[in-house]
Amino acid sequence: AIARPQGHRPLVVGHRGNSGLAPENTAAAFASALAAGADMIETDVRLSADGELFLFHDGTGRRTTNIAEVFPDRADDPITSFTAAQLRRLDAGSWFGEQFRGEPILFFSELPAAVDFSLGINLEIKAPAESPGVEQALAAALAGEADWKRLAQQQPIAVSSFDHASVRAFHEAAPDVAVFQLVDGIPDQALLAGARWLQGVVANHLSLTAESAAAVRALDLGLWAYTVNGAEYTERALDTGLDAVITDFPGTLVERLSAQS
Ligand code: G3P
Ligand code: MG
Repeated sequence: AIARPQGHRPLVVGHRGNSGLAPENTAAAFASALAAGADMIETDVRLSADGELFLFHDGTGRRTTNIAEVFPDRADDPITSFTAAQLRRLDAGSWFGEQFRGEPILFFSELPAAVDFSLGINLEIKAPAESPGVEQALAAALAGEADWKRLAQQQPIAVSSFDHASVRAFHEAAPDVAVFQLVDGIPDQALLAGARWLQGVVANHLSLTAESAAAVRALDLGLWAYTVNGAEYTERALDTGLDAVITDFPGTLVERLSAQS
């Protein structure tokens, strides 16, 4: 099971890295999460048009890249319709701050070199219908690359998706990797009960209640919450008794948890 060795506080997971303070899903955001004391990072995985795994949240590049300058006629095209070479031409940093100008979109194969091996990694398969074969590609990459094998031996790796069929497809391709079901509303008990291969549930903290948390626990599943920002929400989420908390401000959560221990 993925749990802190000390077991005295929930894992702190930097959402898209330290995305409150650095451009999401870039090497800068992951390094910043590590520096802030996060236990893990969460990141979003997609497949480029020519089959390379890359880390990107939105369906298009408009919000978090300079795509409108580089490909003016294609700025609202699916980000997955671009090849890896095209994606490598984009600046994914300057939208967030001038000091991040030139920060590239990070590819999955570049992640082990970009992050410290002491960070755990939650890989969220994003919009799998747009990236056919992403589950098998991710499973093959995790099994095939020496860096990833080493990483997986040292640190927790968890794969998740809102899409249940995608979680299942990934699990079938990589049965040894921990898989989590992402849920936006109340977790579906029947679905969870029928999927005993799941390690746990990653729930929207706004939908999570004491009852739904207890129902997840009754199935002996781990319980994580996303995306918990702000003092009030943090206190409420911690009261639920979580295994991990995904936040845009991992440094703030680490300080909050250190203060109580
Ligand atoms: O994986 C938790 C969270 O990242 C899910 O929502 O939209 O931020 O990817 P989103
Ligand atoms: Mg995500």
